[in-house]
Amino acid sequence: MGNRKVKNVLVTGGAGFIGSHTCVALAEAGYQPVVVDNFANSQSDVPDRIAQIIGTAIPVHQVDCTDETGMRNILDRYEDWHGVIHFAAYKAVGESVAHPLKYYRNNIGSLLTLLQLMNDYPLHHLVFSSSCTVYGEPDHLPVTEKSPVRPAESPYGYTKQVGEQIITDQQQVSPAMRSVLLRYFNPIGAHPSGKIGELPLGKPENLVPYVVQTAAGWRDQLTIFGRDYPTEDGTAIRDYIHVMDLAEAHVKALDWLHQQEAQETPGIFNIGTGRGHSVKEVVDTFEDATGIKVPHQFGSRRPGDVSSIYADATLAQRELNWSASRTLGEALHDAWMWQQTLKPPA
Ligand code: UD1
Repeated sequence: MGNRKVKNVLVTGGAGFIGSHTCVALAEAGYQPVVVDNFANSQSDVPDRIAQIIGTAIPVHQVDCTDETGMRNILDRYEDWHGVIHFAAYKAVGESVAHPLKYYRNNIGSLLTLLQLMNDYPLHHLVFSSSCTVYGEPDHLPVTEKSPVRPAESPYGYTKQVGEQIITDQQQVSPAMRSVLLRYFNPIGAHPSGKIGELPLGKPENLVPYVVQTAAGWRDQLTIFGRDYPTEDGTAIRDYIHVMDLAEAHVKALDWLHQQEAQETPGIFNIGTGRGHSVKEVVDTFEDATGIKVPHQFGSRRPGDVSSIYADATLAQRELNWSASRTLGEALHDAWMWQQTLKPPA
């Protein structure tokens, strides 16, 4: 290592679920993650846990990304910026319907602040967290990056669509800027060390946290939303991707950005496994992987849910030299190992 130049990567939301795993992947690839997080939806000991995995402490700044002065102070403190990965955002679909202003203010406000700072500082490379939610209910499967973007079902979904548009517009007028929009499918699992994972506040909205909490006895039973979808077993299909595979995609995206000589529009990549699994398959695979039964019942469809979506991830494979390598069973096993480290709610 010696006096090799440190490649600082600003990671907004670096203490969150995907952000924390990406810090590990960055460190493993030789980058220096610099975390900025307001800990609104993450715990203050996460940076220490990351340090335990990678064997060295990482810089952490408790600042809200919408606070321009606070963000400037961070940018002033470091010499060289290799890029920024922007995770900091709220992500609960139901909450976004109940509190749209909260979502627009935070998710759009933080992005605007960041883009302003990228304009003012030598920080030119941006990886943005987007979502397959931009495709809505697709006509053709798997979805490619050329599949049409559909009107969002929620303010959360709009913040991703609008975020993509804002970056695209800013890219047009910023010759030095390089950006990628990563459209995540369904991130699940945890780091295999069991030191970091997903920490849903209260009752989980997402499937896998609900499955593992039910297996742990924190919830009486899982409700499978809908068994009348036009799929083989009647339950909805998603593309579940291990969070470490997703984390590694960010590192590859950053590397890719540094190879781009010029860019008029952002790079757009689906980040999924390319395979769909039904809710029932997730439950069965969890039971096989862990030997633990998940009590469940069938309920009605959840409003706003699509029937089936999974990625065509060949563009990411070709351009970023990235593809998912971990199985659904591994992801569920790792999610379960993580769950077992958690204390039940009081
Ligand atoms: C949701 C969001 C997506 C967001 C992602 C991450 C929608 C339409 N999409 O994805 O935009 O990026 O979360 O936060 O809300 N399920 C059950 N029982 C449960 C929970 C879920 O059967 O208790 C089913 C759902 O109906 C769905 C599947 O499991 O078919 C996956 O649900 P979930 O984990 O919430 O992810 P998405 O809805 O795909």
